[in-house]
Amino acid sequence: MTEPRSTAKDRDPTTDADDTETTRPAVESPPPGPRGLPIVDNTIGFARDPLEFLSSMREYGDVAGYEAFDREFVVVSDPGLVEEVLVSRDDEFWRGEFENEFGEALDIEGVFFAEGDRWRRQRTLLQNAFTPARIRSYADDMVAETVRLLEEWSDGEVVDIREAASTLTLRALTRSLFDLEFEDDRTDRVRRWVRAMGAYNDSEFLGVRVLLPSWIPSRAEREYRRATADVTELVGELVAERRRSDADGDDLLSLLATGEYPDGSSPSAEEITDQLLLFLLAGHETTATALTYACWLLAGDNNVQSRLEREVSTVLGDRDPAFADLSDLAVTEAVGREALRLYPPLPFLQREPHEETTLAGYRIGSGTTVQLNMYSIHRDERWWTDPDAFRPDRWLADGEDGQSVLHGGDRPEYAYFPFGGGPRHCIGMRFAMTELQLSLATMVRRVDLERVTTSIDPSFEVSLDPGPVEMRVRKR
Ligand code: HEM
Repeated sequence: MTEPRSTAKDRDPTTDADDTETTRPAVESPPPGPRGLPIVDNTIGFARDPLEFLSSMREYGDVAGYEAFDREFVVVSDPGLVEEVLVSRDDEFWRGEFENEFGEALDIEGVFFAEGDRWRRQRTLLQNAFTPARIRSYADDMVAETVRLLEEWSDGEVVDIREAASTLTLRALTRSLFDLEFEDDRTDRVRRWVRAMGAYNDSEFLGVRVLLPSWIPSRAEREYRRATADVTELVGELVAERRRSDADGDDLLSLLATGEYPDGSSPSAEEITDQLLLFLLAGHETTATALTYACWLLAGDNNVQSRLEREVSTVLGDRDPAFADLSDLAVTEAVGREALRLYPPLPFLQREPHEETTLAGYRIGSGTTVQLNMYSIHRDERWWTDPDAFRPDRWLADGEDGQSVLHGGDRPEYAYFPFGGGPRHCIGMRFAMTELQLSLATMVRRVDLERVTTSIDPSFEVSLDPGPVEMRVRKR
């Protein structure tokens, strides 16, 4: 998978010409959009169904503006402009107040929400847990956890694959990144927390906050606070156990519990807790969602399934996959990529300019939230033929030896960016793709999954949630 470009190329937006020049308005004006609508209509429209709302913004063009939640938003639906915001002009933007308010409401910090030097030193330390050599060392755990899950299933059983994928990715995460085998009660505590977060987030977005004064805690908020306190306690136990064990490994938990920043200082107790909470969430929820969609999409397409089975049987024979097989499992990777295209777990990204600027000639005021419309770009017919169809073959070409090989296609780089881009691209990208590929290949070898849930209507909660996805297990 192509590594997103992470070097920020300094560029002066006022003097730099580019090919969007011809479509620029003569005078810098705010972007077009549903300006006439009352703010509350947009707020409710976005809150009810953010994906539908953002898709509808495309009728105003690749840069569209609206007002909601008492602030200005600009929706960007063009890959070249996404690249400007994330990569070539990334120093002009930060995650922004709107995104931070979300983090504050959820009481989550960590590297995802840090900025400037604080972000840089955290990212530099944490990156050590994600080097190619470290990812290779996690691969066997990922396969072992998949096998463990499959062995817990019986032939003919109907499972909720969404729940099962969460259990799998959480166990794989704690085993690889924390070097710990999580007992079921610990897994349950984390899962309860993520569920409470989804419900709380939902109630916030559904306008409860718009209609109720914020000092009245909703039931969902009270439950979420209780679950957060519980997981914070769990994280404290993990750090204490690690310190007692005198382990000086280079997994993430050891890096935080015993490591140092580049300037020689150590992460504070609060920072350690924040990072671990963040990784417990970011490190399993998104990958679980992706794996769920991949399994469900596969079960709906016999041709793709047969092609995948052929690949897995040719490459692996009668053994489970290992890290060294990844480059030969091109169809498996294409299935993962295509699931992430159709259902990106984080379907839009948000940024805010440090000061007033322009984008494609439109004025973007400071304090404006710029929303990068990933879900719509991933399904835009300008870059994708048959955009709503599950077609892993769009990522494949025939190699010299008749085997399938991956190719990116002839489209702008940021027509596909499920892991973001630029310096703040997903730190867990390789981890996630490795897990997705290894888990899928292991599953295909051992079980056949049939759809019981026949349609999915994703909603945006903590990630792009498919809701319960029931599937029948047929053991091979
Ligand atoms: C399929 C799975 C995943 C997807 C689709 C995904 C997606 C993303 C995206 C789009 C971003 C950038 C957000 C932005 O620019 O606003 C991001 C950031 C991040 N992701 Fe992931 N992610 C996945 C898996 C993981 C895993 C497995 C981990 C950790 C083990 C992880 C940890 C993080 C962290 C810490 C950041 C913040 C990076 C920073 O700000 O420097 N993610 N992820």
